[in-house]
Amino acid sequence: ESSSGSALGPRDLSCYRILSTGSYECSWRYEGPATGVSHFLRCCLSPGRCCYFAVGSATRLQFSDQDGVPVLHDITLWVESQVANRTEKSPEISLLLYSFVKYDPPPKDIKVSRTAGQVLMEWKTPDGQDNADVQFRHRTPGSPWKLGHCGLQDDTGLAGAEMDVPGDPLSSESCRCPLEKDAAQEFQLRRQRWLRSQAPGGPWSSWSSSVCVPAETPPKLELNCSVELLQPDGRRQLTLQGQQPPQLELPEGCHRTTPGVEATYSIHLHMLSCPCQARATKTLPLRKMLRLSGAAYNVTVISQNRFGPGLNQTCLITADNHTEPRTLNISVGAKGTTMHWAGRVEATTYCIEWQPHDQDKSRATCTVTAPQALDQAGMVTHSWNPASGAMEQEGCYRVTIFASTRPKKPTSWSTVLSTYHFWGNASRAGTPQFVSVKNHSADSVSVHWAESPLSSCPGVLKGHVVRFWDEDSSQVSEYEVNATETQVTLRGLRPGVTYTVQIRADTAAEQGAWSKPQQFSTEVQVSHLIIFLVSLGSFVSILVLGILGYFSLNRAAQCLCPPLPTPCASSAVEFPGSQGKQVWQWTKPEGFPEEAPPQEALVVETFWDKGEG
Ligand SMILES: *[C@@H]1O[C@H](CO)[C@@H](O)[C@H](O)[C@H]1NC(C)=O
Ligand SMILES: *[C@@H]1O[C@H](CO)[C@@H](O)[C@H](O)[C@H]1NC(C)=O
Ligand SMILES: *[C@@H]1O[C@H](CO)[C@@H](O)[C@H](O)[C@H]1NC(C)=O
Ligand SMILES: *[C@@H]1O[C@H](CO)[C@@H](O)[C@H](O)[C@H]1NC(C)=O
Ligand SMILES: *[C@@H]1O[C@H](CO)[C@@H](O)[C@H](O)[C@H]1NC(C)=O
Ligand SMILES: *[C@@H]1O[C@H](CO)[C@@H](O)[C@H](O)[C@H]1NC(C)=O
Ligand SMILES: *[C@@H]1O[C@H](CO)[C@@H](O)[C@H](O)[C@H]1NC(C)=O
Ligand SMILES: *[C@@H]1O[C@H](CO)[C@@H](O)[C@H](O)[C@H]1NC(C)=O
Ligand SMILES: *[C@@H]1O[C@H](CO)[C@@H](O)[C@H](O)[C@H]1NC(C)=O
Repeated sequence: ESSSGSALGPRDLSCYRILSTGSYECSWRYEGPATGVSHFLRCCLSPGRCCYFAVGSATRLQFSDQDGVPVLHDITLWVESQVANRTEKSPEISLLLYSFVKYDPPPKDIKVSRTAGQVLMEWKTPDGQDNADVQFRHRTPGSPWKLGHCGLQDDTGLAGAEMDVPGDPLSSESCRCPLEKDAAQEFQLRRQRWLRSQAPGGPWSSWSSSVCVPAETPPKLELNCSVELLQPDGRRQLTLQGQQPPQLELPEGCHRTTPGVEATYSIHLHMLSCPCQARATKTLPLRKMLRLSGAAYNVTVISQNRFGPGLNQTCLITADNHTEPRTLNISVGAKGTTMHWAGRVEATTYCIEWQPHDQDKSRATCTVTAPQALDQAGMVTHSWNPASGAMEQEGCYRVTIFASTRPKKPTSWSTVLSTYHFWGNASRAGTPQFVSVKNHSADSVSVHWAESPLSSCPGVLKGHVVRFWDEDSSQVSEYEVNATETQVTLRGLRPGVTYTVQIRADTAAEQGAWSKPQQFSTEVQVSHLIIFLVSLGSFVSILVLGILGYFSLNRAAQCLCPPLPTPCASSAVEFPGSQGKQVWQWTKPEGFPEEAPPQEALVVETFWDKGEG
C-alpha cells in the first residue's frame, strides 16, 4: 500500500559502499512520528529477483556482499515503513552499489591558517580516498549555516605536493574559506567521491567536526598605565587600568576552550634604561599590577589569536627623575676610577648607567658588574682603569645604579640610587669666568661672575668663596656665597685703595681653582668704559659740529659781510676838558687797507662838566 504522495514516510534513501570497512550501508530519514514504525529495506535486481531486510525502528542498515544483495549489478532499492495498519514507501533509487562509494569527511586535525585575507584549511586525504569534491558550511553567532564550495581536489596537483613530506604516501586536500573581520565563525567540511567522468561517485560524506575560527583581528584592549612613586626598596607599582579582555560571542558549536579561537593578551616589557643588561625584554601573561624599578620601560599589551598578532597598545613609562645628592662617591686616581655606594643586602649584580644631562638620552652608556658582595660598612666598590675607554667626555652625567639578584629577569631590577655627577676636572671646569666689579660706592662694590658650568649639574656645586685684599695690607677677607648666586657685595672698603678680588667654586668633593685676579678701586664712581664712551661721543659730536659750523659760517660770512680788515689801534687822543663841540681831523694809520670814503672831519662833543679828561 504505497503512500508516496503523503507528507509522511521514509525519504532520502541513500545506499553506498564504505571504503574503510569494505561493507555497504543504506540510510534514510523518516518523516512523521517515529513511535511504532518499523522499516523494511527492499531491493530488486529484476522482477522476481528481490531481497529485503527487516530493519526495525533504525533508519540505517549495514550489510556485506555476503548478505544476498547483488552489489556488482544495477539494482533498485527502496524503504517500506509500517505504522499500525498502514505502509509508506520511499522513492526508489537505482545504482550499482559496488562503485557508489561514500568518502569520509576531513579528519579532526585540520590545519588552519590565514592567507590573503582568507582562511586556509588543510588536511591529510583519508587513505585511498583521492579525487574528492569538497564543500563547507559556515555560520557566525546567531546566524544559520551558509554553504560554500571548496572545489575538486586534484591530488596530483600542487596543493598536495606542497604539503607532502618526501616519501610520505599521504596526500593532502585544502579549502579556502572567507574570513570575517569582526566575528568568530564555525566551519564544517564534507567530501564526495568524484569520478574522472566528472560525475559524482558517491554520496556526500557526513560533515566533519567543527572548526572554530576567530575574527581576523583580535579585539583591542583599552588600557592606561600609571606608575606610583618609587618606594624605599627601589621599586614602584605599575597599574594597567582599563577594561577586561573583551569576549567575543562564539557560534553554537564552538567553545571557549577551543584553542586559538579567542585572543590571548600578554605584556611585552622592555626595560629601556641600562641597555647593556643581559636581557632587556620579557613577555608576561597579562596582569594588572607589576612592580618595577625606577627605570624607563616600554610596556606593550600584545593581542594574539591563531592568525597572529593584533593591534598592540604601548605605554612608555619614563624613568623616575628623583635624585639624591652625595649618595655616590667617585674618586679618580692614577690607577683608575673607583665608585662607592651603599649596596643591597644580598649578593647582587649592579647595572650602572651614565646619562649625559640635558642631552640626547640615547647616548647613555652603562656597565653591568659581576655579582658584588658588600664590605663591612655595607658599601659596594666598583673600579675600572682609565684604559677601559669608558666615559671620555667631560660633563654632567646622571648616574643611576640598578640592582638585581637575577639579572636575566628584566622584572627583577630595583633602583639603588640616582644622582648627578660632574665627570672631569670639576675644579677647572667650575672656575668662575667673566668676573666684573660694578656699582662702586665710596665703601662698597658688587662683584659679578658668569654662572658656573657646574651649576647646571644639580647638587654638584656646593658654593662659592670670594676673597679680596688691598695692595697695602696683606690681610685677605673671604665671603661664602651660595651655589645659586652669581654676585656678592663687598662692604667696608676704604676709598681710594686698590683691591684685588678672586672667586672659586667648590664642589662637595673638592675646592675649586681661583679665578683670575681682578683689581678695582672705590674711587672711580662710574665705569671707565662708560666715561670713555661718553667722552668719545662728546668729542666726536663737537668735532663734527665744529667742522660743519666752520664750513657753513665761512660761506655765510662771504655772502653777508665783506672781508674785514684786521683791526689795529689808532693813536690815543686826549680831549681837553673844555666844553662844547670840537672838530678833529681823522688820520688813517699807515698801511691800513681800508676802503674809506673821502676823508671827513671827526666831530667830538663832550658832555661831562668836571675837567677830568
Ligand atoms: C486503520 O486504522 C485506523 C485506526 O487505527 C482506522 O481508522 C482505519 O480505518 C484503518 N484503516 C484500514 C484500511 O484498516
Ligand atoms: C585612559 O586615559 C584617558 C585619558 O586620561 C581616558 O580618557 C580613558 O578613558 C582612559 N581609558 C581607560 C580604559 O581607562
Ligand atoms: C615600544 O614598543 C613598541 C612595540 O614593541 C614599539 O613599536 C615602539 O617603537 C617602542 N617604543 C620605544 C620608544 O622603544
Ligand atoms: C605587536 O607586538 C608584537 C610583539 O612585539 C609584534 O610581533 C607585532 O608585530 C606587533 N603588532 C603590531 C600591529 O604592531
Ligand atoms: C620629575 O617628573 C615630574 C613628573 O613627570 C615633574 O613634574 C618634575 O618636574 C620632574 N622633576 C625634575 C627634577 O625633573
Ligand atoms: C663619601 O666620602 C666622604 C669622604 O670621603 C664620606 O664622608 C662620605 O660618607 C662618603 N659617602 C658615601 C656615600 O660613600
Ligand atoms: C684640574 O685642573 C686644575 C687647574 O687646571 C689643575 O691644577 C689640577 O691639577 C687638575 N686636577 C686634575 C685631577 O687633573
Ligand atoms: C647697582 O645699584 C643700583 C642702585 O643701588 C641697583 O638698582 C642696581 O640693581 C645695582 N646693579 C647691580 C648690577 O647690582
Ligand atoms: C644659601 O641659601 C640657603 C637656602 O636658600 C640660605 O639658607 C642661606 O642663608 C644662603 N647662604 C648664603 C651665604 O647666602
